[in-house]
Amino acid sequence: MKPTALITGASSGIGYEFSKLFAKAGYGLIIVARSEDKLIKLKEELGDHPVLILTQDLSKPGAAKELYEKVRQQGRTVEVLINNAGFGLNGDFDELAMEKQQEMIQVNITALTELTHYFLKDMKNAPLFDIPKGVLNVASTAAFQPGPKMAVYYASKAYVLSFSEALVEELRGTGVTVSTLCPGATETNFFSTAQADHIKLRNNTMSAEAVARAGFLGFVKGKRVVIPGAVNKSGAYLAKFMPRSTGAKIAHYVDKS
Ligand SMILES: NC(=O)c1ccc[n+]([C@@H]2O[C@H](COP(=O)([O-])OP(=O)(O)OC[C@H]3O[C@@H](n4cnc5c(N)ncnc54)[C@H](OP(=O)(O)O)[C@@H]3O)[C@@H](O)[C@H]2O)c1
Repeated sequence: MKPTALITGASSGIGYEFSKLFAKAGYGLIIVARSEDKLIKLKEELGDHPVLILTQDLSKPGAAKELYEKVRQQGRTVEVLINNAGFGLNGDFDELAMEKQQEMIQVNITALTELTHYFLKDMKNAPLFDIPKGVLNVASTAAFQPGPKMAVYYASKAYVLSFSEALVEELRGTGVTVSTLCPGATETNFFSTAQADHIKLRNNTMSAEAVARAGFLGFVKGKRVVIPGAVNKSGAYLAKFMPRSTGAKIAHYVDKS
């Protein structure tokens, strides 16, 4: 039997590319997002590869439990969970609608945490395959410093990184891998959703395919943290030694300039 990878946010960008890579590596897929039409198109593209489509709005409280139950009702188990769904919002914290920011916390933090909780127990009991089992969480280079004008988004990604690194230690020796992918600016719908196209224009963006490939390879090699691209790696390295106030000033400058 093939192990199964569940990928959230598979309808576009990095998640769409992950789907193609994990399918090629032999994993059966469960693809998740709100846009059913895009998921159907992706399934068609993957030909006769085993793909289950589950539509779910992860911004709704209780969505992760609901998704877990749907997977169980289908009699399926998940050997790899890819928590990729996420979005950002650009603007002054007090001006951005609190409801939208709450939805962001729900998708970027709550759903990711709850999905990991539900699927991890099953994953620990799953047999070992010749390809790894575990969790691949998508954070961001935003995890390494505070981000004025995207304060909640940056903080949400810092949470993802810290949470995932703690699990690496908890799960040592269990055969369950936990990797965190920290992309920098990537060519996807992210910036238009965040109303932050002005930032994208000033960044050295990578393709979604290259970012997903780095994440996939990092995960199969059991890497703890994967930062794709030399520029992003250098930025993350510098952030370690920089006062956090300087990091915040630089992020603010990039937004304003
Ligand atoms: N692009 C970048 O520069 C960049 C940099 C660092 C990190 N990231 C992270 O990479 C991940 C993927 O983003 P992307 O760049 O590929 O952007 P994207 O093209 O906008 O893709 C976002 C994915 O998340 C899904 N999603 C959003 N809200 C959702 C919800 N409420 N319920 C279920 N699914 C939802 C979307 O599907 P539907 O709309 O169909 O629901 C879509 O498949 C995110 O976690 C993002 O924070 C991106």
